[in-house]
Amino acid sequence: MSLFITLEGGEGSGKSTVLRNIVSALEKEGYAVITTREPGGTPISEEIRNVILDKKNTDMDPRTEALLYAASRRQHLVQKVWPALKEGKIVLCDRYLDSSLAYQGGARNLGIDEVLSINMFATEGTFPDITLLFDLDPEVGLSRIAANAGREVNRLDLEKIEFHKQVRATFLSLAKRYSDRFVVLDASKNVEDVTADALAAIKARLEK
Ligand code: TYD
Repeated sequence: MSLFITLEGGEGSGKSTVLRNIVSALEKEGYAVITTREPGGTPISEEIRNVILDKKNTDMDPRTEALLYAASRRQHLVQKVWPALKEGKIVLCDRYLDSSLAYQGGARNLGIDEVLSINMFATEGTFPDITLLFDLDPEVGLSRIAANAGREVNRLDLEKIEFHKQVRATFLSLAKRYSDRFVVLDASKNVEDVTADALAAIKARLEK
């Protein structure tokens, strides 16, 4: 049975680590799984990723940014996600359209429905079956990252916190709007517990 699962959340939420754990647990049980990420996941999408995330592109217009994420998403769907789903695989994707709704729609203030409309064009209405939201206070997420890098949180980091608070609030509002597919995980728990919660949600869906 094919299943399209996306992982969403702010920085430092631990979703990449949990993703690796979920994959090995599902593979052990014999499921065919592929993992991928956004923006990126195919050569063309990775090229678009480089343009979006390049630090020297500081003058990028927010709508340009939203369109590039949507373009990258489209190419990734066509070349990777749709074919894998057709083959009956479980596709685990690190970020998808809800990131655009939260970051560009919410935090960059473009409007959720505006950003949704370009994404409907890009995806032809392909929504995930399950969206795992790794919910975490951004202060905790950013301090986890800072601790890893061995440096203190500075003024810029603090400015960014407002942006990340908006990202979190928008994700939580999306979880209410799309309550049929969203599963909100408490990412302040330890990795083992968050992995168990994520797996329980996926199993419930697989056994439906
Ligand atoms: P990445 O290094 O992959 O971040 P992470 O490990 O947190 O997933 O960078 C992706 C960045 O792009 C991340 O800050 C979230 C942002 N993003 C958007 O703003 N909109 C989108 O549609 C997507 C997919 C990502």
